[in-house]
Amino acid sequence: MKQFPKLKSQAILSPMAGVTDVAFRALCKKYGAAMTCTEFLHSTAINRRNKKTLEMLKTDPIENPKQIQLFGASIDEVVKAAKFVEKDFDIIDINCGCPAWKVIKTGAGSELMKEPKQLGDLIKKLNNATKIPITIKIRAGIDDKHINAIEIAKIAEKAGAAAIAIHARTQKQGYSGKSDWKLIKKVKEELKIPVIGNGDIFTPEDFKEKLNSSKVDYILIARGAIGNPYIFKQIDDYMKTGTYNQKDKLEQFNEYLTLAKKHKIDFSQIKSQAINFTKGIRSGGKLRVELAKSKNMSDLTKEIDEFKKHHKR
Ligand SMILES: Cc1cc2nc3c(=O)[nH]c(=O)nc-3n(C[C@H](O)[C@H](O)[C@H](O)COP(=O)(O)O)c2cc1C
Repeated sequence: MKQFPKLKSQAILSPMAGVTDVAFRALCKKYGAAMTCTEFLHSTAINRRNKKTLEMLKTDPIENPKQIQLFGASIDEVVKAAKFVEKDFDIIDINCGCPAWKVIKTGAGSELMKEPKQLGDLIKKLNNATKIPITIKIRAGIDDKHINAIEIAKIAEKAGAAAIAIHARTQKQGYSGKSDWKLIKKVKEELKIPVIGNGDIFTPEDFKEKLNSSKVDYILIARGAIGNPYIFKQIDDYMKTGTYNQKDKLEQFNEYLTLAKKHKIDFSQIKSQAINFTKGIRSGGKLRVELAKSKNMSDLTKEIDEFKKHHKR
C-alpha cells in the first residue's frame, strides 16, 4: 500500500481556491506548515490542458511533500488528470467536500458523498492507475439527516486511501455552525490510516485543544492562515513553549510579495492577498478601500508605504 508520509509537524495548510497560490503556500511552508496543497483543480481542465489551470500546477522547491487537489465527477476524467500530474507531486487529494453549487451541480465535490460505493471505485481506480498516495477530503455528510463521514472513511480506507481529511460540517451547512470535532474523533477511532481534522482552528490554543481532544494525526488550517501564514510558527511555538508572538501583517505581506514576484503571480491575485493581509490591523479598513482601487503594483506599494508612514506600529 502507498503510505501517507510522516510529516515533520502536525499543522497542514488546507487548500483554498483564490488564496493558496504558490507564493502563499511557500510562505506558510517557511513558517512551518507540515504540508501544502494546491487549490482544487478541475480534472477536465487539466485534461484539456487549459493554460490557466496548468499554471496552477506550479510549485515552489520549499514545498515538500507536494500535494495537489483534484475535483471532478467523472472517474475517467479524474484518473486521467491524476496520471498527468503525478510526476510533479507526491500526493493526490480528491475534493469530496466542496459545497459550492457550480461544483455540486456537476456531481463533483461534496456531491461525491451521496454515492459512497462509486467514491470507493474512484479511489481504487486512482490507486491502481498511479504510483503516489491518494487522499480524500470529505465533509460530515450531505445534511444533518445524512451524516455518513464514518461510512465513507471506512470505504475509502478499504479502497486504498492513504489518509482522510474531514471538515465536519455538512454540505448543506456550507460555513454556518461549527465543525463537529466529536465526529472527527469518531472517524479517527474507526480508521488505521492517518486522519486529518479540519474546521475552526484560528489560534494555537484552538489547535492544541482539538488535537488533544480528537487525537487526530494532523489538522488542516484554512481561514486561520488567510493573511497570517505566521500562524504555523505560532502553533509550533505554542506547542513547544506555551507562548507565541504575532508577526506584523504588513511585514508578512512584504515576504509574500517577494515570493509572488519570484513566481510571477498576477496583479489581481497580489491585490486580493494585500487586502487579506490588512484585515485585523489598526486602521486597516481605510487602507483596504485604497488598495481595492489600485490599478497596478506601483499604486499598491505606494498605498502601503503611505500607510506605514502615517501609522507607526
Ligand atoms: C476562500 C476559501 C477557498 C476554499 N477552497 C477550497 C478548495 O479549493 N479545496 C478544498 O478542499 N477546500 C476549500 N476550502 C475549504 C477549506 O479548505 C476548509 O476545509 C474550510 O475552510 C474549513 O477550515 P477552516 O475552519 O480552517 O477555515 C476553501 C475555503 C475558503 C475559505
